[in-house]
Amino acid sequence: MTTPHISASPGDFAPAVLFPGDPRRARKIAQQLMPDARLISDVRSMEAYTGTYRGIPLSVMGSGMGMPSATIYATELFEVFDVQRIIRVGTCGGIHPDVNIGDTVIAMGAHTTSAMNSQRIPHVHFSAVASWQLLHAAAHAASNRADNTTVHIGTVLSEDHFYFKPEGLLERLQNYGTLAVEMEAAALYGVAAEYQRDALAVLTVSDTVLQDGPNMTPEQRESRFQDALRLALTAALHNSDLPEAELP
Ligand code: HPA
Repeated sequence: MTTPHISASPGDFAPAVLFPGDPRRARKIAQQLMPDARLISDVRSMEAYTGTYRGIPLSVMGSGMGMPSATIYATELFEVFDVQRIIRVGTCGGIHPDVNIGDTVIAMGAHTTSAMNSQRIPHVHFSAVASWQLLHAAAHAASNRADNTTVHIGTVLSEDHFYFKPEGLLERLQNYGTLAVEMEAAALYGVAAEYQRDALAVLTVSDTVLQDGPNMTPEQRESRFQDALRLALTAALHNSDLPEAELP
């Protein structure tokens, strides 16, 4: 085993890693995008794959749920496997009234209730921000997109709790224009800053937390996820001489 949590060998990961929460989603993404995908790690069933997408090396690995889990994997990917870019592809709960189920949220910055980033530099309220290059690539792809998914770019809240919501917290965040709530981006951005690498979170809105919204059918859910994946893939592979990513 190369690290306590990843059994791949150095050189097994591509410079760009797509990072969904669910390891089964990682497998599905690998099968969809990379005809030559090979399993390179499955410690604790957290599957990781590497292959090529239109000739360009790409990896995909599950992050698990929450900031401690995502931080463990991201740290090992940057530190040991020389990964340069991690792009989270996941879901979020809409907070802002304009954010609807099925929309895509690109997290330019992430507020957090977690103490993980506040431990980094004493007395500093760390700014957890996306990589400008990845954000720019995703935003550019979003402005050129052919599908009709609405894309929002702004701040999210990264929480430790999924179920416990302190009274009034989300309403206050809504007043500050916060788009959505999720559980990984702030810590991922913290690790990327530590290693001076690039990270971005591209999120599909799976529910709305301050208002009732329609439930998506499984087909709608999948097609909206594909829209977010396309943006994430474009960000992951930007500067690789590929035109905008097309999903197979
Ligand atoms: N909280 C955290 N993450 C989420 C939520 C939520 O309410 N909905 C979808 N992802």
